[in-house]
Amino acid sequence: MTISASAGSAAARAPARGSIQVAPLTCAIGAELGGVSLADAARDDALFAEIRALLLKHRVLFLRDQEITRADHVAFARRFGDLEDHPVAGSDPDHPGLVRIYKDRNSPPEHYENAYHCDGTWREAPPMGCVLRCIETPEVGGDTIWVNMVEAHRLLPEHVKQRIAGLRAMHSIEATFGAVMPVSKRRALKASYPDAEHPVVRTHPETCEKVLFVDGFTTHFVNFHTPDNVRVGQDFAPGASQLLSYLISQAAIPEVQVRFRWRKNSVAIWDNRCTQHYAVQDYWPAARKMERTGIVGDRPC
Ligand code: SIN
Repeated sequence: MTISASAGSAAARAPARGSIQVAPLTCAIGAELGGVSLADAARDDALFAEIRALLLKHRVLFLRDQEITRADHVAFARRFGDLEDHPVAGSDPDHPGLVRIYKDRNSPPEHYENAYHCDGTWREAPPMGCVLRCIETPEVGGDTIWVNMVEAHRLLPEHVKQRIAGLRAMHSIEATFGAVMPVSKRRALKASYPDAEHPVVRTHPETCEKVLFVDGFTTHFVNFHTPDNVRVGQDFAPGASQLLSYLISQAAIPEVQVRFRWRKNSVAIWDNRCTQHYAVQDYWPAARKMERTGIVGDRPC
């Protein structure tokens, strides 16, 4: 069973600045906010602080009917920190930091985002969060799923938690976005964005929670093999890849997910340090247009 944000709930109520209505969408993750405009929150310290606190609690926030300008979108996201562009997806030339995720019948399927991932874990410092606004949505399909990776870690068997504590893994833009590029372009991408090494379990810098931190960009563990556990090389390569696949698959557990049905001017704000997401690619050849700001994050530890 999937859990969808219903159309008529919190966001449908009349906006009343300073009194945010909060409707949790699942027991694990996600809340819909009503009675708030992000254009106001971009200019109002108290309102912004309230949203920031709600983000830490619910990990992803949803808002409907945000008829805001691109400048408002950027100004709101900028309250969290500096914004960054994406080396593959283009940005709006008039609004640096506003990444366009536009798909239509001409978009090659390999440019879709249907893998569970945190944004930008191929960076040394992946984004702390993102603000995604829907410009155009297909009549049916095109939902996005978010996952609570704190809960995914908490639910792991104890012996797995012990095995992965201290493990580190590589994350690669080359092996993902780069895989469909001609060799020279792929190598140039990798030269600009070398693979990044991160802990398999990171600690959320604000809540201090443990987060399972492997995703669709993770290629391999870097310290699985030690002189203690390797008899001959092939002893542990399958063990490492099976463990990594098992960990990556935890994001697909419905009990730690929320699924959101987009409408024009719906917005999602997520904490990229403790969530993953998956944009469901079930609408081709219809068009889907999203605009995303990514907020510069810190180095996971
Ligand atoms: C993303 O992966 O950041 C975009 C998600 C979406 O388009 O729903």
